[in-house]
Amino acid sequence: MTLTGNSPKILVTGGAGFIGSHTVVSLVNAGFEPVIVDDFSNSERKALDGLRAILGHDVTCYPVNCNDVVAMEDIFQKEKPVGVIHFAAYKAVGESVAKPLKYYRNNLDSLLLLLELMPAYTVQNFVFSSSCTVYGQPEQLPVTEETPRLPAQSPYGNTKAIGEDIIRDAIHSKIPVKALALRYFNPIGAHPSAQIGELPLGVPANLVPFITQTAAGIRSSLTVYGDDYNTPDGTCVRDYIDVMDLADAHVQALTKLIEAKDSYSYDVINIGTGRGETVLNVIKTFEEATGVTVNYSVGPRRAGDVEQVYADVSKANRVLDWSARRSLAESLRDAWQWQQKLS
Ligand code: WQD
Repeated sequence: MTLTGNSPKILVTGGAGFIGSHTVVSLVNAGFEPVIVDDFSNSERKALDGLRAILGHDVTCYPVNCNDVVAMEDIFQKEKPVGVIHFAAYKAVGESVAKPLKYYRNNLDSLLLLLELMPAYTVQNFVFSSSCTVYGQPEQLPVTEETPRLPAQSPYGNTKAIGEDIIRDAIHSKIPVKALALRYFNPIGAHPSAQIGELPLGVPANLVPFITQTAAGIRSSLTVYGDDYNTPDGTCVRDYIDVMDLADAHVQALTKLIEAKDSYSYDVINIGTGRGETVLNVIKTFEEATGVTVNYSVGPRRAGDVEQVYADVSKANRVLDWSARRSLAESLRDAWQWQQKLS
């Protein structure tokens, strides 16, 4: 897809990260011109090489922290985007417990700055990266957007819940912005080209990168955190959403916002597959999809884990005209291809 000079520009903060980089690909495929803002504190510049390999051209990237007021003002002035997708945030649950002020400062200041700059530069469309973590352990499953949020399990999760409230209150004060908060479930997978994917720093906290690193021999064994839950096989249930489907959901959200006639609006939408999968079934599906055995053992439960959470996606289907298309097996195959490329 080649860009015409007048493709509408979209600011993608955290655009060199896992979900951000995949969304950059979807944006170009939909005729937008993404402009990345990323300080590379939790991503690598080689993601830009991967994007060039996929897209056949460079993507504009400002190596800037979203809290840098002067730099952000310059970018808004120069690029005049029609929308912003805000991914940039620290997201390590465990680290957020150890360093809560780092998380509140970074994740909330950047959001407040964007909400001040958008009206000043008539940027009317805003998509916010939120998380199913705001639900905690829902009583009803699948979980709908009407389910009351529970007290966050971590400062990281709290920055997502507070972020949603900040946007809601700003829109309620009639700032001329149309906003959607997308509550992601568990993003997995990689672009089928294996040019971009998840780059966990250090020992992966998340299940799928730990599976692929174990399969690649980087980790000697995977520990399954508990098999005594009240679930089909005793292991936790999650809604694993392919990162390419998640990227497409952002483009759909942006497109619907741009088309909307109202001058300000706010809504939250679950982005998942609508299917719950147990940890053991993810391992089994990985082995069947790749032919690679995963060495694992069952250990004690991990503190803070919820037993089951998966999405009711009827609102995303209706409002965004979007649904997840990729299977768990496809996502795990792509994740494995990416791991082999990394190794
Ligand atoms: C999934 C399941 C673990 C690793 C986190 C964040 C959430 C969101 C997605 C950002 C759980 C089990 C894991 C391992 C295991 N991120 N597991 N062995 O905790 O559902 O969500 O990532 O928004 O905010 O909290 O994802 O991949 O860590 O765990 O058994 O080595 O896999 O117990 O049941 P989680 P996860």
